[in-house]
Amino acid sequence: MNTPKTKPVQTQAAKPTRKPRRAREVIAPYETVAAANFAEYPIGHGRVIQGDCLDVLRALPADEFVLAFTSPPYLNAINYSQHVDKLKGQVARWEREQVSYAEYREFLTARFGALQRVVKPGGYNIVNIAPVGWNGERVALPFHFVAWMEALGWKFREDIIWEKSIARDRRSGVLLQHPFPGYYYPSLVSEYVLVFQKPAAKKDRENIYWFRSAEEKKRNELDLSEYQGEMSKNVWKIRPLSPQENTHPAPFPLELAERILKLYSYQGDAVIDIFAGSGQTNLAAERLERRHVGIEILPEYVKYALKRLEAQVAQERLI
Ligand SMILES: C[S@@+](CC[C@H](N)C(=O)[O-])C[C@H]1O[C@@H](n2cnc3c(N)ncnc32)[C@H](O)[C@@H]1O
Repeated sequence: MNTPKTKPVQTQAAKPTRKPRRAREVIAPYETVAAANFAEYPIGHGRVIQGDCLDVLRALPADEFVLAFTSPPYLNAINYSQHVDKLKGQVARWEREQVSYAEYREFLTARFGALQRVVKPGGYNIVNIAPVGWNGERVALPFHFVAWMEALGWKFREDIIWEKSIARDRRSGVLLQHPFPGYYYPSLVSEYVLVFQKPAAKKDRENIYWFRSAEEKKRNELDLSEYQGEMSKNVWKIRPLSPQENTHPAPFPLELAERILKLYSYQGDAVIDIFAGSGQTNLAAERLERRHVGIEILPEYVKYALKRLEAQVAQERLI
């Protein structure tokens, strides 16, 4: 998209709090991205780039990111551009898009294939994804997705269940009305967080953390009081956001993004979200002192993400 770039948001280095912080680097402008004429918005220690992530990824340098975290769009379930029209009062409700499952697989595999080039060898690609309704059927998307990612060369590492604690559907009510075998439709309170890794040529390089200094490890030491309870298991109970908390139709909670970033990256590492939506990954990265890139196709969501990031950056200036 040929839109002019915004002015970089000016930031100041944060003053030290309890743990000593390292001098914060920002994601430097990517000449290749600028040359391709994407609208690119520097913000805090990262940037939001507007465009189809397939095109943007092709313009990014190879082996740039330690970690990718995202939740992909369910193309048939939410029509994001009509959601934006609804926000603007231009339509009363959105219609589902007619996308076949085969087209959707092509959409995802093209983009997660392109993502692999920009993730460092040994780096992680973590995806929040759930089964989805397609033509009246419940489709096992996360399980198919693992096979698609493995075919692209991603190594499957972990399956984490995000337990949402609040059911938004009334499926379980069916059994209450028909208390007989064959009427069991549990309420859906979980999504998957699937962890993949980019293989590395040499065995020791498979651990992208092998070269960290003792000082860096000390600064990034994890708080084990958080770990000993629920976090040590692969079921994470995290409250989902209510529609009032975020105007995007499908955000994941900041807490989920923060947990992933703390567990899989160090301060100063570069992280990317290829379907950035309201910018939750960027926001978590900004709060946790990571560098960040978010790619989002719809200008209205880019604007919304930037607004939220600007508030965070303004708060950092006060520290
Ligand atoms: C599930 S949402 C992500 C929400 C995000 N995790 C958050 O917390 O706000 C998927 C996003 O992908 C965006 N999207 C769809 N197709 C895209 C593409 N080809 N390139 C980049 N973004 C795209 C949609 O506009 C939508 O905002």
